[in-house]
Amino acid sequence: MKRTSALTAAFVAVLTLRPPGALGADLGETLATQGDGEGAAPCVSCHGADGRGNAAAGFPSLAGLDAGYLARQVRLTRDGERASPVMGPVVKTLSDAEIEAVSAWFAGLEAGPPATEAPTDAQAAVATRLVTEGDWPGRDLPPCASCHGPGARGVNASFPALAGQHAAYLEAQLRAWQAGTRATDPGDLMGTVARKLTDDEITAVSRWLAAQPREVK
Ligand code: HEC
Ligand code: HEC
Repeated sequence: MKRTSALTAAFVAVLTLRPPGALGADLGETLATQGDGEGAAPCVSCHGADGRGNAAAGFPSLAGLDAGYLARQVRLTRDGERASPVMGPVVKTLSDAEIEAVSAWFAGLEAGPPATEAPTDAQAAVATRLVTEGDWPGRDLPPCASCHGPGARGVNASFPALAGQHAAYLEAQLRAWQAGTRATDPGDLMGTVARKLTDDEITAVSRWLAAQPREVK
C-alpha cells in the first residue's frame, strides 16, 4: 500500500512538473507560425494567424475543423494524392508527427463568425433542400447533412464541417470532384454526390454553407 501511494505521488509530481501545454501543441504552434526551417512555409502566411483562411485568395479556413480530417488532407497533399499547386510544394518536408501536431493546433482555434457571402433567398431555398432533404426520388441524391451532420457542422475525421467555410473554396472543391481532380474520398462518396449537382446548385449551396455558423466545439 505504502509503495503504491509513493509511486502515485511520484507520478503526480512528474505530471505537475511538465511544462504548460502538451509538447505536441508547442510544436504545432511553432510549425504553423514559423514553418520547419527546411522548406515548409509558415501555414499562417496563407491560412491566417487566426486560421480562418482568406476567401479571395482561395485559402480555406482551418480553424476548429477536426484534427484528424486536417491531418489526412495535409498528408494527402504532401504525398501528391490531393493536388495543390500552391500548397503542395510547401508541405513536402513535414513528418507525420509534425502534421499531427500542426493539425491539432488549427483544430483548437475558434472558427469565428460565418463568412459574409450571403446567398439570395432563391439560393437559400435550393441549398436548404439539398442539405436537409437531398433529392432521393429524382437523382438518388442523399442530403449533405446525412454525412456532414446537422447544419453541415461536421462528423468526426471523415466528414468535414462545411458550415462557415469560404464559398469560393467550397465551389472549387465541388468542381474538382466533378472534374475528377480531387478523388481522395473513400468509395467516391463525394464524387458521386458532386457529379449530380448543377452549376447553379453548386453556387447556391456553397454560398449558403459559407453563411452558416460552424460551432464545432
Ligand atoms: C502558400 C500558401 C499555403 C501555405 C503556406 C499552406 N497552405 Fe494549406 N492550403 C493552401 C491552399 C491554396 C489550399 C486549398 C487547396 C485546394 O484548393 O485544394 C490549402 C488547403 C489546406 C488544407 C485542406 C483543408 C480542407 O478543408 O480540406 C489543409 C488541412 C491545409 N491547407 C493545412 C495547411 C498546413 C497545416 C500548413 C502549414 C504546414 C499549410 N496548409 C500551409 C495554401 C497554403
Ligand atoms: C455519402 C456521404 C456524403 C454526402 C451525402 C456528402 N458528402 Fe461531402 N464529403 C464526404 C466526405 C467523405 C468528404 C471528405 C473527403 C476527403 O476526405 O477527401 C467530403 C468533403 C466535402 C467537401 C470538402 C470540404 C473541405 O473542407 O475541403 C465539400 C465542399 C463537400 N463535401 C460538400 C458536400 C455537399 C455540398 C453535399 C451535399 C450536396 C455533400 N458534401 C454530401 C461525404 C459526403
